[in-house]
Amino acid sequence: MRILITGNMGYVGPVLVRYLRQTCPGAELVGFDAGFFGHCLTNASVLPESLLDRQIFGDVREFPSPLLDRVDAVVHLAAVSNDPMGKEFETVTEEVNRGASVRLAKLAAEAGVKNFVFASSCSMYGYAEGGARKETDPTNPLTAYARSKIGTEADLANADLNGMVFTSLRFATACGMSDRLRLDLVLNDFVACAVTAGEITVLSDGSPWRPLIDVKDMARAISWAVQRSADNGGAFLAVNAGRDESNYQVKDLAEAVARHVPGTSVSINKDAPPDKRSYKVDFSLFKSLAADFIPQVSLDESIERLCAGLQQMKFADRNFRESPFMRLNTLRRHMAANRLGADLRWKGV
Ligand SMILES: NC(=O)c1ccc[n+]([C@@H]2O[C@H](COP(=O)([O-])OP(=O)(O)OC[C@H]3O[C@@H](n4cnc5c(N)ncnc54)[C@H](O)[C@@H]3O)[C@@H](O)[C@H]2O)c1
Repeated sequence: MRILITGNMGYVGPVLVRYLRQTCPGAELVGFDAGFFGHCLTNASVLPESLLDRQIFGDVREFPSPLLDRVDAVVHLAAVSNDPMGKEFETVTEEVNRGASVRLAKLAAEAGVKNFVFASSCSMYGYAEGGARKETDPTNPLTAYARSKIGTEADLANADLNGMVFTSLRFATACGMSDRLRLDLVLNDFVACAVTAGEITVLSDGSPWRPLIDVKDMARAISWAVQRSADNGGAFLAVNAGRDESNYQVKDLAEAVARHVPGTSVSINKDAPPDKRSYKVDFSLFKSLAADFIPQVSLDESIERLCAGLQQMKFADRNFRESPFMRLNTLRRHMAANRLGADLRWKGV
């Protein structure tokens, strides 16, 4: 089985590649990435890409269709991957996250790829009062990033995909340790605050709801979708990926982290304006379709692995919110050094 993974050189990719290498030892794994964060290794013992059969560098906006020859499954992770980047690079977010994703899915279908997995996001529920949101509920995308994810689903929902099984995994907010750690994610940020400063500064009033999923459980969900058959959920499926028990209020996450790092205080900004993003999500469809692949990593385990990873890195940067561990800062540094254009294309290549 040949699996092509786009965007494999980010936060999720290294964890996914390791998981697929362990669970599908015979699979041929090919990576495709622009390499924006290739140098942002954290505590990797080996280069994550050394577990691949092949690494290709390129831009998904100009994806070369011959690379799809004899590919059985595509896992499409490549994206401008959060709200702050989406705000700064709004047009590029639409081009990369929606335009290139739709084109790649259609090319894959033409090439006879059997399964296509799209890394979507629960952030499309935006601000959702009342109960947990199901896939059939209206979405409320508040940002360019969220609009790009629901837009891709909308463009492909009724497209002729030549029998290809398409799975859009609407992931909860990721957390957990990776060989290319990001700290611009709520739980990861709180653990870094606790480890470096002994104080968690919650930027909101702590009340918003966020469902979480450990990055290792994202890999587990993807491995299910890579082999899903159309009789389990239909040829086109958009499904919330996470578990009901992992809907948390932000203040509860801060307190859970503080319990793990002795001496940590939590400061909540009680005067903060209400957060525009708050959503609880219903994951019962995922549980019914993928019973053997539902998340297994507990919140405590995610926190412990993050603490251990940061300690192994001797991480002590209290100003990490200004550091390359935030994806947007890394892009800005590339641009300031004139390596990357405002269109997020490498210069001189
Ligand atoms: N991290 C989360 O909380 C989360 C939650 C839900 C969904 N997702 C989705 O999962 C996927 C992976 O997330 P991540 O956290 O690993 O993101 P990341 O930013 O760490 O990695 C994204 C990768 O895509 C590559 N990329 C970006 N633009 C590209 C382009 N034009 N051509 C080729 N490669 C390009 C980058 O170089 C990077 O290696 C994304 O689609 C993201 O939207 C992430």
